This record gives sequence, C-alpha cells and structure tokens, in this order.
Amino acid sequence: MILLGACQQQEQTQTVSSQQLDTWVLAQGNQVAADAQKTLSGQLKASMSDGGPQQAIRFCNTAARTITDSLSRGHEVSIKRTGLKLRNPQNSPTQIEQAVLEEFQQALNDSTALESKVIHLDHEILFVKPILINNPLCLTCHGAKGTQIGEETVQLLDRLYPNDAAYAFQMGDLRGMWSITFDKQEIEQYLNSTKK
Ligand code: HEC
Repeated sequence: MILLGACQQQEQTQTVSSQQLDTWVLAQGNQVAADAQKTLSGQLKASMSDGGPQQAIRFCNTAARTITDSLSRGHEVSIKRTGLKLRNPQNSPTQIEQAVLEEFQQALNDSTALESKVIHLDHEILFVKPILINNPLCLTCHGAKGTQIGEETVQLLDRLYPNDAAYAFQMGDLRGMWSITFDKQEIEQYLNSTKK
C-alpha cells in the first residue's frame, strides 16, 4: 500500500511536462498582460481626457499599482511592471528581472526581435514580456522634459517622483517589461486536474 501510494504520487508530479508548463504559462501570461495593459491604458486615456496629463499622473501615482495588485488577486498571480529606468522605485527589478531587461535592451540594440519568455525559478515560474514605447502618448509623460513633457507636468512629476529616471525615451525604445509570477506547484496541480 505504501509503495503504491509513493508510485502514484510520483506519477502525479511527472504527468505535466516542462514543455506543457511553458506552453500554458506563455499563453496565460500573454492573456494576463493583455488584460492588465487594457485596464491601465483605458483608465489612463479616460483621465487624460478628463484633466490632461496632470490628472492622469495623479491617477498613475495612486491607481496604477492598486490596479496591478487587484488584477493580481483576480488572476492568482503576481503582476508587475518594471524597467531599467524607473519612475517609481517600488517597481524596481529583482536580480533576475534586471538580467532579462539587459538582455532585451541588448537584443533591441542588435535589432533582434524581442520575445516574451518563460523562466523557471525554484518554486515559481516567471513570464516576462517587453514593453516598448510604441505610442506617441507615452512621450507626454516619458519623453523629453520641458518639450514633450509640458512644464507643469514636469513640476508635478518632480514633486511626486524625486528620483524619476523614466523620461527622455523615444519611439521604439524599451520602456520596461511585464513580469508575471506564477506558482509552479499550483499550475502543476491545475494542469493535472484538467488532464484526462
Ligand atoms: C499621464 C502620464 C503618463 C503616460 C501618458 C504614460 N505613463 Fe507610464 N508612468 C507614469 C507614471 C506617473 C508612472 C509611475 C506609476 C507608479 O507610481 O507606479 C509610470 C510608470 C510606468 C511604468 C512602470 C515602471 C516605472 O517607471 O515605474 C511603465 C513600464 C510605463 N509607465 C510605461 C508606459 C508606456 C509604455 C506608456 C505609453 C503607452 C506610458 N507609460 C504612458 C505616467 C505616464
């Protein structure tokens, strides 16, 4: 009986291949990032048209992290935006994220395609997806200070983010990345339970 139990247990943990995990995480990660992107940019545009960049910055300052946190809970994953040049130091990259960001930057410098990827950690699986400056709207708050970012907006940014480094970007630049963390064991259990 004991042996049988042990065998079954082992079989259970081996039913999901690493390949299957990666495929699932890639699809799911893309979905979660798209949802988060849509929610953030929808609200950003709404507050921009309500009260211009200043109103929108107040929105980003108070709500962007709350939105990503609550989306995280809805999806039972942890959702983060990070980058090499940051506005909010709370979005700082971990060591692994830092390395990935540097790889993305290098790929961009080499004109190689930037691709989302899946990274296996001890207990977690990370989905990372590059964020490029792909819309002129981004430059209203991440472009050149004083020209693309208007004077009043600069003052507000300087007040809210004294260590702001997330400006002077140009179209096509790497702004940062989505980093979405999944619990490895939960995914394995989930995939096993849906298997048949
Ligand atoms: C209305 C101003 C505004 C616009 C427009 C804007 N951002 Fe931001 N962005 C901010 C603010 C403010 C923060 C800091 C949010 C916080 O406190 O977490 C931020 C943070 C970020 C971050 C998180 C990393 C960091 O620096 O803290 C990323 C990534 C980002 N923005 C990308 C973009 C992209 C891509 C666009 C265009 C699609 C864009 N932003 C448009 C104001 C803006």
